[in-house]
Amino acid sequence: MALFVLVAIALIFQAIATVQHRGQEQPQKDKEININPAALNPQLTPLLPLNGGPQLGYNGWGDVPPTNTTSPTPTPLTPLNSSLEIEDSFFDELVAIVEDKNVFQSNCSKCVAGAELLHFAAITQPVSTVTSLLIRACNKFQSDVWAASCEEYYSGVGGLGPYFALLFAKGSAATGDFAALCYYHYGFCEPPPLIEIDESYYFSPKPARAYIAPEPGTETIEIMHLGDTHYDPRYAIGSEANCTQSFCCRPDSTNEDLHTDSQNPSLPASRFGSLLCDTPADLLLSVFEDMGTFINKSDLAFTVFTGDISSRDNADQMSQAYTAYENEVLFRTLKAQLGNVPVYPTLGNHDTYPELWYLSDSFGSSQAWNYNLVSSLWLNATWIDSAEAEFAATHFGAFAHTTAQGLRIISIASDFYYTGNDFSFVNYTNPDPSGTLKFLADELTACEQREQRAWVIAHVVSGYAADNALPNPSALFQSIIIRFSPSTIAGVFHAHAHKEEFQIFYEYAASSINSATGLRNTTDVDYTKPVQVAWIGGSISPITANNPGYTIMQLDSKTFSVMGSQTYITNIGESLTWSKPVWQYEYDVRSEYSDALPSEGFWPATSPLNATFMDRLTQGMEQNISLVERYNLLESKSSIRVPPCDTADCQASKVCLIRSGSAALGQACIPWNML
Ligand SMILES: *[C@@H]1O[C@H](CO)[C@@H](O)[C@H](O)[C@H]1NC(C)=O
Ligand SMILES: *[C@@H]1O[C@H](CO)[C@@H](O)[C@H](O)[C@H]1NC(C)=O
Ligand SMILES: *[C@@H]1O[C@H](CO)[C@@H](O)[C@H](O)[C@H]1NC(C)=O
Ligand SMILES: *[C@@H]1O[C@H](CO)[C@@H](O)[C@H](O)[C@H]1NC(C)=O
Ligand SMILES: *[C@@H]1O[C@H](CO)[C@@H](O)[C@H](O)[C@H]1NC(C)=O
Ligand SMILES: *[C@@H]1O[C@H](CO)[C@@H](O)[C@H](O)[C@H]1NC(C)=O
Ligand SMILES: *[C@@H]1O[C@H](CO)[C@@H](O)[C@H](O)[C@H]1NC(C)=O
Ligand SMILES: *[C@@H]1O[C@H](CO)[C@@H](O)[C@H](O)[C@H]1NC(C)=O
Ligand SMILES: *[C@@H]1O[C@H](CO)[C@@H](O)[C@H](O)[C@H]1NC(C)=O
Ligand SMILES: *[C@@H]1O[C@H](CO)[C@@H](O)[C@H](O)[C@H]1NC(C)=O
Repeated sequence: MALFVLVAIALIFQAIATVQHRGQEQPQKDKEININPAALNPQLTPLLPLNGGPQLGYNGWGDVPPTNTTSPTPTPLTPLNSSLEIEDSFFDELVAIVEDKNVFQSNCSKCVAGAELLHFAAITQPVSTVTSLLIRACNKFQSDVWAASCEEYYSGVGGLGPYFALLFAKGSAATGDFAALCYYHYGFCEPPPLIEIDESYYFSPKPARAYIAPEPGTETIEIMHLGDTHYDPRYAIGSEANCTQSFCCRPDSTNEDLHTDSQNPSLPASRFGSLLCDTPADLLLSVFEDMGTFINKSDLAFTVFTGDISSRDNADQMSQAYTAYENEVLFRTLKAQLGNVPVYPTLGNHDTYPELWYLSDSFGSSQAWNYNLVSSLWLNATWIDSAEAEFAATHFGAFAHTTAQGLRIISIASDFYYTGNDFSFVNYTNPDPSGTLKFLADELTACEQREQRAWVIAHVVSGYAADNALPNPSALFQSIIIRFSPSTIAGVFHAHAHKEEFQIFYEYAASSINSATGLRNTTDVDYTKPVQVAWIGGSISPITANNPGYTIMQLDSKTFSVMGSQTYITNIGESLTWSKPVWQYEYDVRSEYSDALPSEGFWPATSPLNATFMDRLTQGMEQNISLVERYNLLESKSSIRVPPCDTADCQASKVCLIRSGSAALGQACIPWNML
């Protein structure tokens, strides 16, 4: 149909062009012709028949059928009227597309065509039909789902079929949603194109004063950064801790290579925690119980909690009730353990139900129960006020709050730029369908106007690996950070990586503005002008074979610039030998790296650990592979399972990743970006 319309349009254009062409060539000629009256005489018709044949005529004379004569049509098909027949026909077409070897030459075209088919199924058929189709397709083509079976995943308790039906109904091939989904889910299709950003919708041009950070004073305050707690209340002591599933230390954990299970484990789960497992109760509580060895808890000005609360169960073991339980228990634990020390939280990708998925309002499917719950807990804990709680309840947990010390903390739901949030693929080229980034920009604009410094806290890292953030929204996030750095923003804080990492934002190059459109090319950065650092860390869960760790930071009390940062860890590899979790001091950022900075070396004690410091660290890493190896070890919080980074390739990628403020910049650091 579409092809026919295109051909028809092309023919019309060709006809118009031909007419115009002729008209121009012979402007005067007709007037010079000497017209014979017979040539224009209609009375000369009908013409006489020749040799007894039929009479031929003009102007529809005689038996010529009128132009509006009707003709027979094919016998109409009876529309399918049983839902099973309709489902079968969708399914047969889907299978034909996937198995075709002639027309759909690439996995990308198959995937997009299949998704478009599911789109039409979802907008015309009951959810039960779409769910059934997904189960059949899953059983035929997909070997691994995050559940015991395809049936459990799509239609079991809390089955996700109805969510996928909503996703396919709202998505569109025309806006590139399905191509992006096919790329990020299956590695089919080319990486979707990066759009240029229209910054003018979000903020005013950067004024000269925004390029200068205020100088720190002489007093400091102390704070804590914590995240990725992933408390696992179903952790089974003594179960298989080295399993071949994605998640161990559960009664049903097995190691298929070693033929072991939780009755006969190859490595029993210590009650104090185990690499490859989420956080058991003793480990979580020990963070606070042992903290007094290193600092006075009550001296903390505040704590930032950068998200990820729930354990990482399979989808068929999750429920709204479980997520609510996890969220409530964690925030109540933080309140009980930290007392009067306020906690400023941000929600992670695991902190809603279904996990990973945050649905903006236009999906019409509310997750308000969660935002109501957490905002109420934060309000009751006196961490935020009632107006802020009301805002958080209606804006996916986002808020902006001024601390007692005068710092503005802006907390946003970063899931809207997370690649694991399938719903963020709908309207793929819109960098901010939920309005979350507009809120961030508006808050920072207000801070700039009243000369108040701000921190941005968000769970998911905007740069680094390709599987973190989506290119378009993370590019806008980067634009916002650059616009208000280093003057207004004093720090950016993330978790998600389960590692301790830094990420540097650089000023855009002058050439980055497209002079014709005024839009921003967000990969055109000036690596000589570092403006901001994201501190990634505070993660407790050992599930990715990194040690648990949290950071204590000293901030300048006037500017809130980071002056010092110390990390405390447990060596989980030793947990089977413990009678309780053993916490230890790991390192101090300033003393660890100051001497390794190139040329000028020494970084004065009065200078903050700002983007310039971190950029100098990356320059040192380019020259000194021992420094890269040291950074790599500290990144894992000194885990016994740290993967090596002792080659020139890894060295280059490591530096590249630290310097990536957006997903597109991080993706350019492959092949190491999946580390
Ligand atoms: C066809 O057109 C003729 C006049 O040209 C008109 O009289 C006749 O009603 C039309 N028939 C139909 C079916 O529209
Ligand atoms: C459609 O439904 C009608 C009445 O229920 C039935 O007679 C007919 O056979 C059905 N057609 C198909 C194709 O199933
Ligand atoms: C398409 O994907 C299948 C399954 O992942 C793979 O076996 C096949 O090689 C891919 N084909 C192409 C042309 O990439
Ligand atoms: C865990 O199991 C794998 C096989 O699945 C084995 O290669 C590995 O050595 C085991 N690791 C530990 C720490 O036991
Ligand atoms: C806690 O504070 C007390 C009194 O100010 C001090 O003596 C002690 O050394 C502090 N403890 C730590 C771990 O800093
Ligand atoms: C917060 O406190 C109010 C008033 O006491 C109470 O109604 C509400 O249930 C509390 N919220 C939570 C999540 O406990
Ligand atoms: C996608 O964009 C269209 C057009 O702007 C809008 O009507 C629709 O609500 C958007 N959908 C989502 C899920 O954001
Ligand atoms: C954007 O900037 C990058 C880095 O300078 C450059 O490689 C790329 O070609 C630019 N993109 C466009 C569309 O100009
Ligand atoms: C970092 O601090 C140093 C020393 O105060 C200063 O020279 C530099 O401009 C700062 N860098 C940024 C990005 O603010
Ligand atoms: C290289 O880095 C290592 C590890 O941080 C450090 O001990 C060493 O002094 C550095 N070498 C130079 C020349 O800076």
